[in-house]
Amino acid sequence: MNKISIIGAGMTGATTAHWLAERELANLVLVDVVEGMPQGKSLDMLQAMPIIGKDVSIVGANDYAATAGSDIIIITAGLARKPGMSRDDLLTKNADIVGAAAIETLKYSPDAIYIVLTNPLDTMAYLTMKKTGLPRERVIGQAGILDSARMRAFVAMETGVSVDNINCYVLGGHGDEMVPLTRHSNIAGIPLKEYLPADKLEAIVARTRKGGGEIVNLLKTGSAYYAPSAACAQMAEAILKNKHLIVPCAAYMQGEYGLNDMYFGVPAMLGRGGLERIIEYKFDEEEKAMFEKSAASVKETHDALRKLVEL
Ligand code: APR
Repeated sequence: MNKISIIGAGMTGATTAHWLAERELANLVLVDVVEGMPQGKSLDMLQAMPIIGKDVSIVGANDYAATAGSDIIIITAGLARKPGMSRDDLLTKNADIVGAAAIETLKYSPDAIYIVLTNPLDTMAYLTMKKTGLPRERVIGQAGILDSARMRAFVAMETGVSVDNINCYVLGGHGDEMVPLTRHSNIAGIPLKEYLPADKLEAIVARTRKGGGEIVNLLKTGSAYYAPSAACAQMAEAILKNKHLIVPCAAYMQGEYGLNDMYFGVPAMLGRGGLERIIEYKFDEEEKAMFEKSAASVKETHDALRKLVEL
């Protein structure tokens, strides 16, 4: 049985464990700084396994020893947004937490592949790669699956078509400047632009960009966790089952799309080696401009991180 350790047993961490346990994909470890909480949640979830018929071990811990020998480490530890906060506002606090989690987990799982969820996402993935010294294949950020799923959900709500028929591709940074690619998105092969009137499509794009903020404003005490955690589970599954699945992920750029030394949301192939390939789309002028605007904003957060932390 494979082993996945989830660092941070809060809303996203525990819900990731829930989705993973349902898939019976791996034995699970939940680590958190709060004493008793990861143990309590793990025991509770473990007691659900006989009901859903899944043979999975789920263990909670406050130290990293329990994570030893993990195939995948998912980092969700850190603060979540509150109303009025941008993801970038979390940088200072979460850099300390994610940096320590990255270093400590690597000691126990030298062969693990990392999936990073903590925000600001692109920058935290960069920090994890720099702190662990791992190649880019083994540190991947989650964001694009979530942003694309939000757009897919809004298109399904608007059209009444099954989510299975709706393909949307949202690239770029995980912030308000993200890049929903309407030209590449489609319903059962029909371009979205043909299926939906322009004003409806525009409204969907705008709602997608602010999708996380909409939920923060409704929840008031935290940020989204069902869809972000489902996205993490899909990435873990693609890796462990060696699916060669192409999904938008935050990946370390080495010249792709003209970008270097930063994490950014691009279509990537995931398999047992982690990030196996980055796919380069051909952009028109409008898409290129959106992409560049998003890259400039993500680059700023990377610069802020470099001033804050020695890498
Ligand atoms: N080590 C382990 N866990 C930690 C540490 C640490 N050093 N510091 C904080 N945590 C734990 C907290 O105790 C908490 O249980 O991280 C957990 C975070 O959970 P929530 O507050 O519920 O936040 P969540 O919604 O899970 O979001 C976590 O993921 O999606 C992003 O923007 C989100 O950055 C945020 C992160």
